[in-house]
Amino acid sequence: EKGEYRHFMEKEIHEQPDSVQHTLSAYLDLVAQKVKPQDAIDLTKVSRIQIVACGTAFYAGEIARYAFERLAGVPCDVEIASEFRYRSPALTPGTLVVAVSQSGETADTLASLTWCKAQGFDTAAVVNVHTSSMAREAAAMWPTWAGPEIGVASTKAFTAQVAALLSLALAAGVARGRVAPDEEARLVKALFEAPRLIAETLQADDDLKAVAHDLSKASDVLFLGRGVMYPLAMEGALKLKEISYIHAEGYAAGELKHGPIALVDEETPVIALAPMDEVFEKTASNLQEVAARGGPVVMITAKGAPSPHGAAVRRVEIPACDPFIAPLVYAVPVQLLAYYTAVEKGTDVDQPRNLAKSVTVE
Ligand code: F6R
Repeated sequence: EKGEYRHFMEKEIHEQPDSVQHTLSAYLDLVAQKVKPQDAIDLTKVSRIQIVACGTAFYAGEIARYAFERLAGVPCDVEIASEFRYRSPALTPGTLVVAVSQSGETADTLASLTWCKAQGFDTAAVVNVHTSSMAREAAAMWPTWAGPEIGVASTKAFTAQVAALLSLALAAGVARGRVAPDEEARLVKALFEAPRLIAETLQADDDLKAVAHDLSKASDVLFLGRGVMYPLAMEGALKLKEISYIHAEGYAAGELKHGPIALVDEETPVIALAPMDEVFEKTASNLQEVAARGGPVVMITAKGAPSPHGAAVRRVEIPACDPFIAPLVYAVPVQLLAYYTAVEKGTDVDQPRNLAKSVTVE
């Protein structure tokens, strides 16, 4: 039931403080400030991680790649399942194959998993439906605890995937002796800050509604981000396309000048995801380039973060957070922008045209 909400998507966006908390608790012990032991897979023996997924789950995988490499030092590749399964991938021994899927039934992801298992690789499935085909097929099941997701556009399943994968990357870093106990405690605490920060972000949505009002009149929108904000920019573009039918693209901010900046004009809003992280200054200078060409820039950033010097940008401020959990917190404005824009346009938010909740055909 939708309860007080207009759409399941809105309800599911608002459930994220709980679904993220629930998922984190499956992997992390807040009291002990430690990761919980992961017995199903020996993370010390993994020499490479290959993530396969589709759509939103693929972007969760892309976000996880940064964490697996940075915290655990494990090379990590992420690929769209429909490409992976048909190109005879040359996986090296010791590769752990991780399927990421809300439904656990997506045909291409499942086929990739089955193929890798048949080749003798270790497999794990990050799934929200714990009785699904992928849950049964994979050697290890890593659950997300988002609860049933009804809106076709994935929201709480995505943040649950990110929460699980960041926790697992931390567990891998600890198991491999690359994350010391004090750093482990700091990152566990940081992750458990996410539910509260998500809740705060959900409350302060007036600016986002105003931006969505303007977006609803656009025919093209660009999303920009660096580091983990790059896959989140692509997720933002996907969400906007799916439910508002506005053409949108997500780009790595540094890639702008290699082509897409030619699209910038007064009619094309540019949404920048700019948390206070180590690449903030770089993103800010990309926004100066956009503003100098007359592009309307919306900068989603932390309270207290500076604006790019001399550039006219509209700010949407959300609570400051540890960069490690920024993908969880910044997912919220990205989802709300798509949601409010679709509501403004009057589209069928929970059942967008041409889309099915679970893609079990190739
Ligand atoms: C986007 C969306 C889709 C799914 C994709 C994979 O909002 O919902 O892109 O993420 O079809 O589905 P699962 O996660 O069930 O494998």
